[in-house]
Order: sequence, then structure tokens, then C-alpha cells
Amino acid sequence: MKVSIIGGGGLVGSCAGFALQAGGIVREIALVDVNQELAEGQALDLLHGSSLISDQKITSGGTEHVKDSDIVVITAGLRRKPDESRLDLINRNVELFRGILTDVASHGLKSDAIVFVVSNPVDVLTYLAIRDLNLPPQQVIGLGTVLDTTRLRGILAARLNVPPTQVSAVILGEHGDSMVPIWSAAQVGGLPLDKFPGFTPGLIADVEKQTRGSGAEVIRRKGGAGFAVGVSIADVVHCIALDQRRILPVSSLQTKAYGLRDVCLSVPTVVGRTGVIDQLEVELWPKEKMALLNSGNVLRETIGRVLGG
Ligand code: 2OP
Repeated sequence: MKVSIIGGGGLVGSCAGFALQAGGIVREIALVDVNQELAEGQALDLLHGSSLISDQKITSGGTEHVKDSDIVVITAGLRRKPDESRLDLINRNVELFRGILTDVASHGLKSDAIVFVVSNPVDVLTYLAIRDLNLPPQQVIGLGTVLDTTRLRGILAARLNVPPTQVSAVILGEHGDSMVPIWSAAQVGGLPLDKFPGFTPGLIADVEKQTRGSGAEVIRRKGGAGFAVGVSIADVVHCIALDQRRILPVSSLQTKAYGLRDVCLSVPTVVGRTGVIDQLEVELWPKEKMALLNSGNVLRETIGRVLGG
């Protein structure tokens, strides 16, 4: 399987490339960037370590790589300032993103290609990609709240002093200010979080606040996310590549769950080689469902205002 990463020269794209190399599952990783010198440098750096990791083809270049790619990851875009919301970014990124989509469409895509949007605001840009690319909607997905979910698990694990891989919790809705942590289903080691040693409502509130502010905090401290968003991207790519059909909170065009329609956001989604296989409606606490519908309204309004539709 060939994966092209548009924006592969940048922090997010190159970390995704390294995570895919470390995973050793995809056959070819192509780093595509408008700054081809930078993309070549990143590819060279990956290639230098390849003999210790896995036998993959590591390439770099321009958008011509997309035409034989099985998955096209789009990470390119301007990064927000720490005090800017992801939705604030939209006016600067929509035109840039439209240009990328035009370039991708001009080179053509395989009929079964998956387009995987990471650029922010990811839910709105996923909706735009579906509208501007001539692909079935289920073949266009966004990273959505996969990164937020990963952050929540890691932060909660650190606070409870438990292994992060044993924390089961999920965030749904917008990858942004209206994201919805689903505490009703959270578990540690298969046991209910609210019965777990060390649990207090105050701890949960604090973890939620830290998770919501994680993106801005990482931008403040180091200029932007890299490692966590890279492994989040790789986890979704591997689910597609291996047709694992895991349930992931990726962003996709809503057609089925919670009465949400004509908007892209994250609900429990079965992901496989053909992209979105199913969207699941699992019972939530009433306040969680209300918050999820609010997330849909926020995004629906933004789409209408910015994309005119
Ligand atoms: C973040 O939250 C890049 O939106 C991403 O860091």
C-alpha cells in the first residue's frame, strides 16, 4: 500500500511519516510538499534509519505521487496561534486547502483511494474535500477527535498512574472547542472509571480541561503537535491498510447516527480499507448527546457561513 503525505515536509507530516515507518505496515511512504527540498530532507532522514526498522520505499516529490496512492493524507495548512481557535483558522486555510484539492484532482486519484484530511479546521475541510473531490463520501475521512481521544487517555493515565494502553475513553464531536468527552463509557483496565481508585469528579474536570487545551499548550511550548498527531494518523492509516474495521472517532460525513446530517464530525465509526464502513449510534448520557448535537450545530453553521452550503 502506498501512502502519500501532502505537507510531508512539515512537523505533522514528517512525524506521521516516521510513525508509518516505525509501524512497518505500509509499503511506500511518499512525502509531498510545496517545499520539495524540505520533503527530500525528511525522506532522506527516514531512509537513513530504514535498515534498522523496515523494508519500505521512502520517496518524496510533488503532487504527482497521489495518482497511484492508496491513501492520500493531507496535513498541509497554516497553523493556528495559541490563542486562536481551530475555527478561527478557517479563513486562512480554506483557500489554501481548495488549491491543494484542485492540484490533487488534476493529477487524478485511484478509484478506491482514501483521502485522509488532517489540516485544520479538520471537520470543515473534510466536508470541503468531499464536496470538491469526485470520490464517494465514505472514501474521505478526517482525523477528527482521534488525537483528542489519544491525549485524553494519556493525560488520564498519567494522573491515575495506570498504563495508558489500559485507559479506554473516547471524545466525539468537533475537533475543536465543542468536543465532547464521553465519560459515561470511560474505563480503566476494563473497570468503570468512576469506581476506580483515585477517581474524583475534580480530577475528571481537570483532565478534561487539560485535554481541551492540549493543542494550544503544545503550540505555545514547542510550536505545534508532532509525535501524538503522527501516531494518531498512523493508527488510522493502519486500520485502513489492514482492513481492521476498528471503531475509531474519525470525522466523516454524517448520514446515520444521532440524527446528524450534512456535517462532518466524529462519531463511533467502523473504519476499513474502503474508508467509512459504518457509523454507530451508541447510547450516551443525555448531556453528552446534547453536547454532540451542539457540536454538529456549530460545525453546520460554520460550513454554511464559510462554504456557502
Ligand atoms: C492539535 O490539536 C494539530 O489540531 C491539532 O494539535
